[in-house]
Amino acid sequence: MCGIVGIVRRRLGVARDLIRSLKKLEYRGYDSAGIAVMSDGDIEVVKGVGTIEAVVGDAKIRDGYVGIGHTRWATHGGVSPENAHPHLSCNGEVAVVHNGTLDDFEGMRRELIAKGHVLHSETDTEVVAHLVEGNLKSGDKPLSAFVKAIKKLKGSYAIVSIISGERALFLARNKSPLVIGLGEDGNYCASDVAALLHLTNRFIFMDDGEIALLTPSEVEIWRLNGDSLEKVHKETEEVEWTPQLLDKGAFDHFMLKEIHEQPHILRKIAESIDYYTRFSERLNSLLRDGSLTIVAAGTSYHAGLIGKYLLSKLAGVRSEIIVASEFPEWSSHLRQGDIVLAISQSGETADVLEAVRIAKSKGSKVVSIVNVPGSTLTRISDESIFIQAGPEIGVAATKTFSAQVAVLYVVSSLISGRSGISRELTEVSELLRGSMDSLDEFSKKMSDLLKDKEHVFFLGRGINYPTALEGALKLKEISYIHAEGYPAGEYKHGPLALIEEGTPAIMLVPVNEELRKKTIYNIMEVRSRGAFTITIQPRGMEIPADASLETDAWDELISPLIYTVPLQLIAYHTAVILGRDPDKPRNLAKSVTVE
Ligand code: G6P
Repeated sequence: MCGIVGIVRRRLGVARDLIRSLKKLEYRGYDSAGIAVMSDGDIEVVKGVGTIEAVVGDAKIRDGYVGIGHTRWATHGGVSPENAHPHLSCNGEVAVVHNGTLDDFEGMRRELIAKGHVLHSETDTEVVAHLVEGNLKSGDKPLSAFVKAIKKLKGSYAIVSIISGERALFLARNKSPLVIGLGEDGNYCASDVAALLHLTNRFIFMDDGEIALLTPSEVEIWRLNGDSLEKVHKETEEVEWTPQLLDKGAFDHFMLKEIHEQPHILRKIAESIDYYTRFSERLNSLLRDGSLTIVAAGTSYHAGLIGKYLLSKLAGVRSEIIVASEFPEWSSHLRQGDIVLAISQSGETADVLEAVRIAKSKGSKVVSIVNVPGSTLTRISDESIFIQAGPEIGVAATKTFSAQVAVLYVVSSLISGRSGISRELTEVSELLRGSMDSLDEFSKKMSDLLKDKEHVFFLGRGINYPTALEGALKLKEISYIHAEGYPAGEYKHGPLALIEEGTPAIMLVPVNEELRKKTIYNIMEVRSRGAFTITIQPRGMEIPADASLETDAWDELISPLIYTVPLQLIAYHTAVILGRDPDKPRNLAKSVTVE
């Protein structure tokens, strides 16, 4: 994963802005960090294990005109100061940061060592610095030394390098994100737009196979075509996100802020029906020619399951869904003209992008639902729409799940020709806005009960089976308590054996009467075996339970938008009570750019 940043400008002052950018990228990985800055020719590096604040926060680094930074989520090589980026060449004249994984780097390492290079880390990245140094020593000019090194690489990379004496950033991208930001007094690059919003809102989005040279006044981009470089002209795009959106304001954590943003986002989606109409029409017309397969990972996969349900229920559209990491193995049936709907918050999840590449190679059309502007998925899809949730910083996805579900609701409804969608979503938004405090209070109480438990089960039916999966995922990823989501009716075929006296079972009670009756049987089943049952349910229903949250959900199809919020809050408060940082759960990263 990892986040990278680079700044080159006319005046001194890159160090402070590099650190600001890195803090915005911390969600991509946070086991180690580092920056390299150059002023009068010498490159100075500060790096180490720990958070950005701890490693470079008050670093006494000489300021400079050009610099690069990195926040790491270890892949090649353990978490150690040596493996932290930036990596330097032997003579310290080339520094490199990298996001991605290089194939066959062991061979290059051996070759470099045989030529007398001394490598200090176990990383794949370090070879790049030594390759560039070797080319410079052979007499190549800086740009060509960099390009020659890049030509040797296989695998995924977003690489930024600085070279002693050059007021420039050298960039290369293949299968890992890299955006270029255009400023008044300099130019910038980073893994995503959010990292540069404090500097600019004008961006150029690099594509795979491109190399760029950034100086304070110029941006030049080339496409690597075999051995030759072809100059490319790319449009500048303005991004609507503002730096204020990256502020957690009065909230203790981004996750809590993002949970509270949901009513506002639902309203925004409700007011944008026209925006989604064109996409829905296009999807509908494509559906005449081929079958529909949804692909997504993590929380987006759960939204995709709800999407599959809504498309079937509302629009009579049959679809399949494949979890992204399994897509290569389960998609042999795809043909020319079939449609793949990719759902991703970041638009950068490597498994999703790989699925899309496979789909395209088979002649399928790719449509996508994305949150981050300019992300790779939007660039490789035939058609994309945005969920308009704004930047999401908490590693655990919350507001983007609700936004994805809402957009899938809108799209399914538009395909079916239903009306009243905007009104329905506005009502959900108002309902949530009015009940946030009581949801929070209930969730806190429940968290206090759950904090000492080893297992928690989440059971739902129909459209709320994926909601149960999402509730369990939220709890396990940020509180580290084992949690499992299950279809309520399937539970008796095995997992019921795990219920002991006091095992918590969170039951999502359907609005639909028939489904509700069945769920009540399931509640009895777990209760009679000693489960502590917590129901999230429609108001005014007599349901046997140890604790209940009554909601004003009035319709089965919109109930996930309501039931999800207390589940997110339960996970959040449980993590907080246990002293765990909900914004940065251990071992996880928000954007998983490795397969
Ligand atoms: C990571 C994140 C999850 C996210 C998943 C898919 O695992 O920790 O929160 O749901 O990636 O991300 P995407 O950006 O494709 O939705």
